[in-house]
Amino acid sequence: MTDVQTKPEAETTCAHGRPGAPRRAVFAGAGAVGAACLLAACGTSSGGQSDQGFTNDPIPAGSKSPGNDSSGDSPGGNTGGAAAGVLAATADVPQGGGIIKGNYVITQPESGTFKAFSKVCTHQGCDVSKVDGGVIFCPCHKSEFSIADGSPQSGPARKPLPETKVKVDGDNIVAA
Ligand code: FES
Repeated sequence: MTDVQTKPEAETTCAHGRPGAPRRAVFAGAGAVGAACLLAACGTSSGGQSDQGFTNDPIPAGSKSPGNDSSGDSPGGNTGGAAAGVLAATADVPQGGGIIKGNYVITQPESGTFKAFSKVCTHQGCDVSKVDGGVIFCPCHKSEFSIADGSPQSGPARKPLPETKVKVDGDNIVAA
């Protein structure tokens, strides 16, 4: 009760000069300033953290790391249960065609020559869906890419599918 009597000093600090409302005004102002400070702080800190965090969080829809083939998700992350670094068995990749496995499209444009590309379309990030007729097909907007070098052949995509260097090791295609 005696605290209330000491408040007049606070009232004089109110910019609105309205008796009876100063405490609310002060608190409201403090709240607004506090919120603004918090927002500013959050914006700054989260921006910095997100910049760092996104370096390990690859590509948009589908998956985001066609450029991080060797350092990001390991090729051994495929579901074939093969040893680390194995993308596919050579016997599984048809000559003149290819397969989609894990994060890759593995092709055999010529007998004994194997290639691997990111399965993420360079147009808007969909996963390519099939290899047929010498091209890798994206279902979203019908872009087609060469099985030989991943270059765009038709559709809206303008950039080639990123290639991952591979080699044959025994019966397997492995990351080089
Ligand atoms: S995302 Fe592949 S063609 Fe558009």
